[in-house]
Amino acid sequence: MQNVVLFGPPGAGKGTQSALIIEKFHLIHLSTGDLLRSEIAAQSPLGIQAKSLMDAGILVPDAVVIGMIASRLEAHPEAQGFIFDGFPRTIAQAEALDELLAGYHSKISRMISLVVPEQELKQRLMLRGEALGRSDDNEETILRRIHEYQEKTLPVAGYYKASDKYFEISGVGTVEEIFGRISQLLETPTI
Ligand code: AP5
Ligand code: MG
Repeated sequence: MQNVVLFGPPGAGKGTQSALIIEKFHLIHLSTGDLLRSEIAAQSPLGIQAKSLMDAGILVPDAVVIGMIASRLEAHPEAQGFIFDGFPRTIAQAEALDELLAGYHSKISRMISLVVPEQELKQRLMLRGEALGRSDDNEETILRRIHEYQEKTLPVAGYYKASDKYFEISGVGTVEEIFGRISQLLETPTI
């Protein structure tokens, strides 16, 4: 099984690249942001609770996203592997993911981190806000999301560095160029 964590700040291109990765490598895409937005669209109690936090650019509680991931893992016993997009975002989430995967005799193969300068992130998200109107793509919320990332999520990179699973690539360039860099990594077998 190839289980990959695609890591990076808001706007780094995690969702864009995940779409290409699942097609080429036959992995299942698990994006906690997408799962939360589906809950909001369905107006479920979980969605209603999450919406105000997401609109403010604040992380939702660990237990909520860990529960969502647990049920998606359970729903795909046939999977050849998963691509985790936007999860784990805290050390507690990273530890919970290891435990969940161990229950399936599996583990994370590697973390791929997309590196993009902050100015470019803001530009991409402001552009998408204008084009598609995602409710957290406004200047104030973008700044808060980046701040949450720096405070709570960046330490997760250290968690994977400690077990030699961390790989960093530039997330600047065309979508195809970046996908080429990711493919090269994923085509290299893990030890
Ligand atoms: P989430 O949905 O995960 O959002 P995010 O991480 O803030 O970032 P995005 O999804 O906006 O960016 P992305 O890296 O996927 O980039 P994309 O490909 O879209 O989370 C939203 C909220 O949910 C959080 O704030 C939090 O409240 C909550 N949440 C989610 N997961 C959670 C968790 N685990 N724990 C707690 N709370 C959680 O690209 C961005 C834009 O750039 C697009 O318009 C795209 O077309 C464009 N673009 C992509 N690649 C390029 C390129 N190479 N060049 C130019 N433009 C590009
Ligand atoms: Mg995304």
